[in-house]
Amino acid sequence: MFERSRKGEHALLIQPHAGGRPDDGLTEEFSDLARSAGASIAALLTARIDRPNPSTLIGSGKLEEVKAAADATGADLVLVNFPLSPGQERNLEKFLQRRVLDRTGLILDIFAQRARSHEGKLQVELAQLRHMATRLVRGWTHLERQRGGSIGLRGPGETQLETDRRLLQKRVEQLQKRLEKVEVQRTQMRRARVRSELPRVALVGYTNAGKSTLFNVLTGAEAYAADQLFATLDPTVRRIDLPGGAVVLADTVGFVRDLPHELVAAFRSTLSEAREADLLLHVIDAADPHREERIAQVDEVLQEIGAGDLPQMLVFNKIDRIEGAAPRHDQPDPGVDEGEAPSAGMGRERVWISARDGQGIDLLKGALAQRLGFQRVRGELHLPANSARLRARLHALGAVLAEDFEEHGWRVTVDLALADAQRLASQAGGHPLEALLPKVEREEWQ
Ligand code: GTP
Repeated sequence: MFERSRKGEHALLIQPHAGGRPDDGLTEEFSDLARSAGASIAALLTARIDRPNPSTLIGSGKLEEVKAAADATGADLVLVNFPLSPGQERNLEKFLQRRVLDRTGLILDIFAQRARSHEGKLQVELAQLRHMATRLVRGWTHLERQRGGSIGLRGPGETQLETDRRLLQKRVEQLQKRLEKVEVQRTQMRRARVRSELPRVALVGYTNAGKSTLFNVLTGAEAYAADQLFATLDPTVRRIDLPGGAVVLADTVGFVRDLPHELVAAFRSTLSEAREADLLLHVIDAADPHREERIAQVDEVLQEIGAGDLPQMLVFNKIDRIEGAAPRHDQPDPGVDEGEAPSAGMGRERVWISARDGQGIDLLKGALAQRLGFQRVRGELHLPANSARLRARLHALGAVLAEDFEEHGWRVTVDLALADAQRLASQAGGHPLEALLPKVEREEWQ
């Protein structure tokens, strides 16, 4: 009843916009989404909307044009990149004589096709049912009124609508119960992982950035990767070994811009893998001309799910698609405030790799190990008298093993994570800590 495959459908795309020309990024992403759902694209029309028409969103003149284009191209589905009210969807369907789907419906459909884990499937079905419920109920109320009183159309004491509502409600309750159970299991698993005290790292990123491919390379696992958006819907969690320690790595669902709120809610527990991570690996398609916007859009979704303040390392993937690019590891640019940086991500640590070709994977593993404090530096430092702040910081990190007061300052024996040492050293040139840093590392991140 609820499975409607859109494979092989021919879709007419409508991109509403306010004034001027719609942004190319927006229409490209919309086309990618449609293809990702398995549709072929009949045509893409833009529709300027000055005052949204409450019953059809787009005005009547434009509607005629849409209808003509749909007829001429043989489109059997119309997709509108905008949230439509149930009434608007229904009126458009009536006028265009074809199925009409808005952005949420389209994303839900893709999610439904991509869900792999039991929990993911349940979450998608629940979100779909809720989305459909408003449409079904209102749509049918309308039909019921038209049919009003027709003999034979009403069941004994109960309308078809009521039966369906009841069935729908029952299914929703069933799904909720099952999801609660899965969630309990998930919490137990998570507790077990916390007990193992391994740091948790989650892969996040715009859809199609290459998270699953990277997950596979890092874990040597057979996860699913496809050249379609949302190849991953459910987090897959594995332990991986890094130089000097191990971490738990989670793959998560791909993000899109303006992820509908009802979906964010539906995927809250799945996304908790990201929310509860110690470090986020934010994967970016380095060859995407819109990569700056994508970074910002992913940051926005992270904010929404309460993971906006977690430490991030940016992984610029697909460098094989950029002429002359080589694996690289950049430390955050000192003094660059993320909000004011000329390009997104400059205030964050960055690693450049190709997950497909395996380039830079060891560099990434090393960077992760450093960042998580697996690699440590030990030694003796001479801190001049004016470095009270640094000394206080070293104490705050618990890095000071012993210290003696000397005539011109302190002699301090320290043991700290390489990443912390680098961070402290990068805050000023000629830093006392530089003496302890491995030479190669220093050249690499400068
Ligand atoms: P979602 O599940 O949609 O979020 O996607 P994802 O981020 O998990 O991306 P996935 O790993 O499925 O990769 C998407 C596409 O990019 C696939 O066709 C991959 O083969 C391709 N890809 C991944 N990494 C690289 C890379 O380093 N270079 C190139 N050229 N392609 C890559």
